[in-house]
Amino acid sequence: MIHKIEIDIKNSVDDLGKNGYSICENMISPEIITLLIQELENRERTGDIKAGLVGRGEAKTIDGKQRDVLSSWIGNDTAGEKYFLDFAEQIRLSINRNLMLGLFEFESQFLHYPIGGFYKRHVDALKGNRNRIVSMVAYLNQNWSDADGGSLAIWENDQSLRPVIEVMPTAGTVVLMLSEDIPHEARSALRERRAIAGWFRVNPSSAGQINPSH
Ligand code: OGA
Ligand code: MN
Repeated sequence: MIHKIEIDIKNSVDDLGKNGYSICENMISPEIITLLIQELENRERTGDIKAGLVGRGEAKTIDGKQRDVLSSWIGNDTAGEKYFLDFAEQIRLSINRNLMLGLFEFESQFLHYPIGGFYKRHVDALKGNRNRIVSMVAYLNQNWSDADGGSLAIWENDQSLRPVIEVMPTAGTVVLMLSEDIPHEARSALRERRAIAGWFRVNPSSAGQINPSH
């Protein structure tokens, strides 16, 4: 028997290959969402979460105009995190099987946007850098309504002026995007907004060998 999750992953990866992005609702079960929210709220309570950075390598800085969010790296410590990393691993394998991107590792962080928080239009990787290849965003917000705002705007490419879609950050929804190609923006919301952002990367040294011109 084929499980729903396998169908969701296959459809998402197909869409990612066709369009450069994919959106799948109800991809993470309410039970797992509850565990992930608990873990994120623990970190909020204990202060184990910091202002999100913008930029690359040594140049990473806090830029309150570009981004207003707290972030905290995900480990393999709690049941929720373990499930999430296992889920990401299934996606990684499916992408490698179907799109042959040679994804090598995954890193992810919890995000907590205060009321009015945002992350302005950006791409997650510079062209030719070959580091972050596919981005994943998973949303944790229960009972979210359109009037709360906080959508994820997605543009088809650098040149696009209008977003191709606005995705509500509803619990269980998972978005995949090609990290170099797809500009996106987390819009400000009237409520606190919680998410996980993750990046599938290639092994930087082998990437250099595969395509030395980059
Ligand atoms: C990011 C990001 C989107 C969101 O952290 O790089 O694009 O909806 N997040 O929070
Ligand atoms: Mn991003």
